[in-house]
Amino acid sequence: MCILDKINKAKKYIQNIYSTEIDVAIILGSGLSSIVNDIKDKTVIKYSDIPGFPVSTVVGHAGELIIGNLNKKKVLVLNGRFHYYEGHNMEAVTFPVRVIKSLGINKLIVSNAAGGMNKDFKAGDLMIIKDQINLTGDNPLIGKNVDKLGPRFPDMSECYNKDLIKLAKEKANELHVKVQEGVYVAVSGPNYETKAELNMLINIGADAVGMSTVPEVIVANHMGMKVLGISCITDMAIPDKLEPLDHEKVIEVANKSMIKFVSLIKEVVKDI
Ligand code: HPA
Repeated sequence: MCILDKINKAKKYIQNIYSTEIDVAIILGSGLSSIVNDIKDKTVIKYSDIPGFPVSTVVGHAGELIIGNLNKKKVLVLNGRFHYYEGHNMEAVTFPVRVIKSLGINKLIVSNAAGGMNKDFKAGDLMIIKDQINLTGDNPLIGKNVDKLGPRFPDMSECYNKDLIKLAKEKANELHVKVQEGVYVAVSGPNYETKAELNMLINIGADAVGMSTVPEVIVANHMGMKVLGISCITDMAIPDKLEPLDHEKVIEVANKSMIKFVSLIKEVVKDI
């Protein structure tokens, strides 16, 4: 089946359940799912019920699409995402973003857990993503371009929208939530980085490293969506101070930052 038909099938399935216009979509990263509790009048759709959706395999990723009201806005939340390291190809990793756009949603908030490589950061900080580097070794736009979705050579000069960044900073200020700002680099994972790799990532200009987000943001830009990205710095990934890391620790720190994250997202959504 061609990608347009696949997208259309998923779109129709969702629209049969929920057909009202939606203001913004939010992709939740590892350990950042509690915002779901604040959504009112929820419609919950299991990924496994949506035609064409892959199935998430990571602990801490629920695998549900939730539509409802958050701070007087209609939001669609993807609770659980698909990672390249799970063995999904890039088309599968980014399929939910294609479907979101087909529902008429033009604004996307992406979030993730990331390792902090900037010496001014500390574990538990939130970082507004100002730009990104794709070091996954792949690209979701490789292959024949589907012109109905976007151009062959999409512009990425403002892959994270300036106005949304400004809004997020203002809201963080009002809430007295300290936010960092920086460049997010995506690697394929699933291993965490070696010290030599971290040295390289710092040298190429990245402030935070993770294993997601970049493919989705490329596809969102391909389709002309406006994107805001927020990383939760769950661990410090500084080569000479590197400590052993595991997924449980990442989830634990992300969970601790969840209150800040949720309050910021709620405020941003209100004025988006
Ligand atoms: N590296 C890569 N991915 C991550 C990290 C990290 O240190 N922390 C959370 N996700």
